[in-house]
Amino acid sequence: MQYITFNHQKTSAIGIGTWHIGEGNQSQTEAEMQAIRYGLDHGVNLIDTAEMYGEGLSESLVGNVLKDYHREDLQLISKFYPFHATPQLIETSLKASLKRLQTDYLDLYLLHWRGNTPLSETVSGLEKMVQAGLIKNWGVSNFDLNDLKELSNLENGNHCRINEDLYNIGSRGIEYSILPWQKQHDMSFVGYSPFGSDGSEYLNIKPVIKEMALQKNISIHQLLLAWVLRNHDLLSIPKTGSANHMQSNIAALDVQFTADELELLDKSYPKPTSEPSLETI
Ligand SMILES: NC(=O)c1ccc[n+]([C@@H]2O[C@H](COP(=O)([O-])OP(=O)(O)OC[C@H]3O[C@@H](n4cnc5c(N)ncnc54)[C@H](OP(=O)(O)O)[C@@H]3O)[C@@H](O)[C@H]2O)c1
Repeated sequence: MQYITFNHQKTSAIGIGTWHIGEGNQSQTEAEMQAIRYGLDHGVNLIDTAEMYGEGLSESLVGNVLKDYHREDLQLISKFYPFHATPQLIETSLKASLKRLQTDYLDLYLLHWRGNTPLSETVSGLEKMVQAGLIKNWGVSNFDLNDLKELSNLENGNHCRINEDLYNIGSRGIEYSILPWQKQHDMSFVGYSPFGSDGSEYLNIKPVIKEMALQKNISIHQLLLAWVLRNHDLLSIPKTGSANHMQSNIAALDVQFTADELELLDKSYPKPTSEPSLETI
């Protein structure tokens, strides 16, 4: 396993994504639990979930797996809906998530995306949850540069530990200013949907990827994940409901690129050259 510093802690370079996990039939659920166990048994030490995922089904499945592990060895991220972003509703949502997850604290609690509640109210609610010992730290998701700057100027806004945005080879916008800004402000970055999410709707796999994967004797998914992790400076959270895929994703951490290979990929999937609007899934 390869580790990075994330949220001021030694963290596996991939975490476990859980969107759509826990929503299927019994045999799917069993396979998903095995996939998560495989990851945890092979050094992955972070899980990303949300109250939105299956309206609690994902958190419940994660809770069922976690009861067999030492809680303090893992970082657990969950997220609340923007329409639960007032102090009172944050507390209600958090307590429900903790119950489903069968734990008494989260490592990170994130505003899933920005809604209508003033950010200052949300920050104040999150700070109260830190003081109550129910979360260790908090963060945000789907924030663009302006959102991050606005947040950092609020009272306690600089306590925001992480921002989680879309990042894969077809969606490179965050490289332009969000990632550099977060590094400068000691805020860890999580990239979601390294494979462009379920199906190929969000990511156009061009021939260069297929040819390079073949040459390197790796799968397309391994190439996509290794590319996201190439600079060892962010966390990626692939989702899989299969232990075999989890094994393959962990093995992708050993894949290296030459400068020529990266240049070739840049030609088909160019770096942003101006501030793009934030892409989300
Ligand atoms: N903060 C946000 O707003 C936000 C938004 C989207 C996602 N997320 C988080 O990021 C996580 C990952 O994103 P995502 O779920 O959208 O999609 P993703 O991880 O980009 O892709 C998941 C898809 O890839 C397949 N897959 C995984 N490993 C594979 C492998 N080795 N070989 C072949 N197929 C493989 C999965 O199928 P199998 O299950 O069959 O392996 C699934 O269909 C989510 O689960 C969630 O935790 C956060």
